[in-house]
Amino acid sequence: MTPELADSLFLRACRRRPVSRTPVWFMRQAGRSLPEYRAVRQGVPMLTACATPDLIAEVTMQPVRRYGVDAAILFSDIVVPLKAIGIDLDIKPGVGPVVADPIRDAAAVEALRPIEPGDVSYVTEAVRALTGELGATPLIGFAGAPFTLASYLVEGGPSKNHDRTKAMMYGEPRLWHALMDRLTTIALGFLRVQIAAGVSAVQLFDSWVGAVAPDDYREFVLPHTRRIFDGLAEAGVPRIHFGVGTGELLGLLGEAGADVVGVDWRVPLDEAARRVGPGRALQGNLDPAVLLAPWEVVERRAADVLARGAKAEGHVFNLGHGVLPGTDPDRLARLTDFVREASAR
Ligand code: CP3
Repeated sequence: MTPELADSLFLRACRRRPVSRTPVWFMRQAGRSLPEYRAVRQGVPMLTACATPDLIAEVTMQPVRRYGVDAAILFSDIVVPLKAIGIDLDIKPGVGPVVADPIRDAAAVEALRPIEPGDVSYVTEAVRALTGELGATPLIGFAGAPFTLASYLVEGGPSKNHDRTKAMMYGEPRLWHALMDRLTTIALGFLRVQIAAGVSAVQLFDSWVGAVAPDDYREFVLPHTRRIFDGLAEAGVPRIHFGVGTGELLGLLGEAGADVVGVDWRVPLDEAARRVGPGRALQGNLDPAVLLAPWEVVERRAADVLARGAKAEGHVFNLGHGVLPGTDPDRLARLTDFVREASAR
């Protein structure tokens, strides 16, 4: 890592070091609303794009060029490592990941093998090319957390209430922990491949874990997420932990061991800092739907996020969840500029 990269605003804020202004990037900034994304994706299925190094690099760079955000996020998907170890699944446009044979028994769990670097050589190749191109702009690698991956695998696709997933968790705890253990090993392996290739931070997306009550999180999820963060401690890159609807879980997410806790829009960042506790930076948390309102509203709300975020030990400006597909890219450009100017100290 070059000194300029190590000293970047994003990495400094993740490490709770002083910054000249608040760094900003957006979850799901790659893809979604960008016309240049739709142009390069013409006729290319999502999972094919995720396995093509040139396309991965191009789509990752698009929001960096357009907005000048302070970090890039690798273009991939949380189901890519599952596909790479032979799970029959696809990403259906407008739907999300769909699994051909949902995992419901021990035999299916045992078929989930660890990931080897050779399974995702296209990721290694893309990350190497990107770190060269990005220079002092950090590249964030990511993986889906075990609970969120388990939900797609057990339900067979997107789910509102995660009924079957929780039925396994409550009713067959041994099978549940065996499944979570395998998915933990896969997530850890996928993150290690990205770190070895050169990403300078990692984010664990536990998007749907907000469906779980705190006591159940402690028993059924925390030991696994903790193994991921512990397993990455020696790598020395900042570890970010994000979920949606996690207001009641923020203290436990802090306990799981990440350096940065991502917060959705439901809990103001000053209150989130209190719940997460000392020794962690925060990332977030403008409601992505605010970007659909008039600019004056966006500006007022973004200023409030910055003011509350300043109460945390470190703050990375982001949305409370991913960019909504209908978002006007010019809005995100204006928001990026606003965060830059309004947070300058
Ligand atoms: O900034 C980025 O977009 C980086 C790449 C990225 C994608 N998926 C690309 C993608 C990241 C970080 C993800 C993570 C992801 N994937 C999550 C966690 C983040 C979150 O939003 O909570 C989850 C739950 C998934 C699973 C998934 N994949 C969903 C729910 C969808 C949306 C389905 C749809 O079409 O609305 C996908 C598909 C997907 N992943 C797309 C992209 C750009 C859209 C598909 C396309 O462009 O054809």
